[in-house]
Amino acid sequence: VGYAGLSADRGGHDAVDVVMEGLRRLEYRGYDSAGVAVVADGEISSRKKAGKLVNLVEEIAAHPLPASSTAIGHTRWATHGGPTDRNAHPHLGDEGRLALIHNGIIENFSSLRAELREKGHEFLSETDTEVAAVLLGEIFRGAGEGDLTRSMQLTASRLEGAFTLLAVHAEVPGVVVAARRNSPLVVGLGEGENFLGSDVSGFIDYTRRAVELEQDQVVTITPESYSVTDFAGNAAEGREFHVDWDAAAAEKGGFDSFMEKEIHDQPQAVADTLLGRADASGRLELDELRIDPQELKDISKIVVLACGTSAYAAHVAKYAIEHWCRIPVDVELSHEFRYRDPIVGPDTLVVTISQSGETMDTLMALRYAKEQGARTLAICNTNGSSIPRESDAVLYTHAGPEIAVASTKAFLAQITATYLLGLYLAQLRGKLFQGEIKDILADMADIPAKIQDILERKDEVISLAHAMKDTTSVLFLGRHVGFPVAMEGALKLKELAYIHAEGFAAGELKHGPIALIDEGQPVFVVVPSPRGRHSMHSKVVSNIQEVRARGARTMVIAEEGDTAVGEFAEWVFRVPETKTLLMPLLSVVPLQIFACALAGAKGLNVDQPRNLAKSVTVE
Ligand code: G6P
Repeated sequence: VGYAGLSADRGGHDAVDVVMEGLRRLEYRGYDSAGVAVVADGEISSRKKAGKLVNLVEEIAAHPLPASSTAIGHTRWATHGGPTDRNAHPHLGDEGRLALIHNGIIENFSSLRAELREKGHEFLSETDTEVAAVLLGEIFRGAGEGDLTRSMQLTASRLEGAFTLLAVHAEVPGVVVAARRNSPLVVGLGEGENFLGSDVSGFIDYTRRAVELEQDQVVTITPESYSVTDFAGNAAEGREFHVDWDAAAAEKGGFDSFMEKEIHDQPQAVADTLLGRADASGRLELDELRIDPQELKDISKIVVLACGTSAYAAHVAKYAIEHWCRIPVDVELSHEFRYRDPIVGPDTLVVTISQSGETMDTLMALRYAKEQGARTLAICNTNGSSIPRESDAVLYTHAGPEIAVASTKAFLAQITATYLLGLYLAQLRGKLFQGEIKDILADMADIPAKIQDILERKDEVISLAHAMKDTTSVLFLGRHVGFPVAMEGALKLKELAYIHAEGFAAGELKHGPIALIDEGQPVFVVVPSPRGRHSMHSKVVSNIQEVRARGARTMVIAEEGDTAVGEFAEWVFRVPETKTLLMPLLSVVPLQIFACALAGAKGLNVDQPRNLAKSVTVE
């Protein structure tokens, strides 16, 4: 976060308050350590502390910072150097006269550090960031001629890798200068004050006017102005946009955690993602895609790329899109796709799915796909982020801000959006009758109320989670669209409760994983509807019997009215009836509640699980 405002006597805010509030909102991006620096009375003052933001709050309370109207602040997810006080940002340069914070990885830091050491500079930390701070100071005193913007341009030109840098200098009060390459950065525009943030939540308490930047740009903010250049110093412009949610949307709203709130936001997230995308006759209108419908008609293959939970949404999408559109759909983890010489070309539509729009693995995979000539479409929850900006087309999910590190409502919104895309492609290519599309959309419109019904029965799941609080291993089984749901159920439990968990395709069980089954092994089974393809339902029921015969305790997610499963399960949770392809939107919800409640019962922080970060902007 960066802030430049008017002094207090001219009505400005205290810069430390603004920056600390911004860090509080951004802490989900990283929480290994935190720090802040201000410019006051011709000096830099800074405080930094390992651990969560609360440690920094205590440090500042014990050793207050001077009143100031210019500040930068940072929360860290460690890459180079462990999460210690010393490695926390800001780092200082120019003999303590400048402070700098950094996201990303500077890949040539080692050669730069050797070069700077030869010039007599000493380093206090193990970080790549300190190298940038010292280099900026060296340039400020030399070729940059005391001009902080010019010095930042020259510094950024010498760095390789991914970075967002923010810097303040004691001799340049009222100014924050930033540079970005590949890592996120947005500008917030206020009255007599301007802001910088990794995303808009860093300043959402103060303004909803924001500016997105391009790659390789430098931006300078003062209380009254902002200006953008490229690294060579040529003037450039950012694109202004309005943030369509407010600070209240990023609060817990009476829940104990963001995770619980976001699980309860899911009916709204699905409804908002559907809103306004079809007319009354069921005709989909996705003009917002910014892509020529003819181009979409001509594609012969779809590749869906994502990481983490978003990748499980991609797996679900494959079943629906292939079924509705008869186009081959490959799903791949972004970081695997990028490095294996994949076959993509002008007739391939590469769909990226990303809540944050900043996941570096996905961004790099997108760029690679573009180089190969593919058409690209982003499904994303964050306006102004890099992945939609660099794609030919974009379909936004309208889940609202997702703060808890492990994804819930974004997942449901992503499945909804991929289904809209699938139906739109089917409509364009004449693969479904308009009436069929209308029917599917009508069933999708019923999903929010059905999720609500599940949420109202959450206590059934919570008591199971409490009873299982000492479990050390849980398996999840599913078939068809239930398979990615099983994998997502396992991921939630790993992320939130630090329990060993695996998701398997139920049919694969007999080819190996069944060896894991022992007396008392808990197994969740996502059971398909008995009304759908009957063979699939009966096969899953057989799988339940196979694990029970070997001592497993079975917990089953089954449709209301499915009378066949009851006798084979220790515990059954009922989800309302819906089409097979829509079932993931319901069956994943009890699994999310289970993981969240079990982690809560173990006394863990469900919003900020250890070692994770919400938006992973390094490869
Ligand atoms: C991180 C988060 C996951 C998330 C993944 C992909 O690893 O911890 O919860 O699913 O990134 O994020 P994206 O923003 O691209 O959807």
